[in-house]
Amino acid sequence: MFLGGVSAEREVSLRTGAGRRRGAPAEGARRPRDRYPRGLAGRGRDAGVDAAFIALHGRFGEDGCIQAACELARLPYTGSGVAASAIAMSKMLGSGWPPRPASPALRTSVRGAGDPRGETPAFGFPLVVKPDREGSTVGITIVRNAAEWEGALALAARHDSRVLAEGYVAGREITVSIVNGRVFPAIEIVPKSGFYDYESKYTAGRRST
Ligand SMILES: Nc1ncnc2c1ncn2[C@@H]1O[C@H](COP(=O)(O)OP(=O)(O)O)[C@@H](O)[C@H]1O
Ligand SMILES: [Mg+2]
Repeated sequence: MFLGGVSAEREVSLRTGAGRRRGAPAEGARRPRDRYPRGLAGRGRDAGVDAAFIALHGRFGEDGCIQAACELARLPYTGSGVAASAIAMSKMLGSGWPPRPASPALRTSVRGAGDPRGETPAFGFPLVVKPDREGSTVGITIVRNAAEWEGALALAARHDSRVLAEGYVAGREITVSIVNGRVFPAIEIVPKSGFYDYESKYTAGRRST
């Protein structure tokens, strides 16, 4: 099992890995590796490992990178393949799923904090600024007015060189899990903080549903 890793979602991944081990300790499973496989290529199956359980979240773990390393090592792995992972991780790529607000996505060329560039989008405020390839609400700001715009860009740019803005969608937030074609019950998210941010997602009791 690969878990932990180096993304902003490292802590979340450690929890995923712990949950996986509690849920169904795999027979013969090896000690999880809290790092990336060094020199993995050409090892994998030769080293007696049958398959990798990928419990990584975020950059390098969910975006096709570790998947590509496993492909090189001829090591079967859990989850989606290289291309599907890369496309699904990006909020700007993809097939229109999940549906996004009808407003045009803004692409800026910001490269990092201190270099926030980008026009305020025509759809105006409130809007939401996000790094393209993160999860767990990391780097996301709901921008209510012009004064918050540059700070939001700088924050998102700390997480990704690609930053996008979306029109704010007001309304109730409903989440639905689908596993192997089976649809699980819809859950309404009512975060106590008013924003379904990192803390709300992973702190018991912070999510009142
Ligand atoms: N356009 C939007 N309008 C209103 N709220 C949003 C919008 N985009 C994101 N959010 C809020 O931020 C949360 C995280 O955004 P999301 O795009 O799902 O990123 P992540 O990949 O980090 O989960 C959402 O669950 C929602 O609460
Ligand atoms: Mg989300």
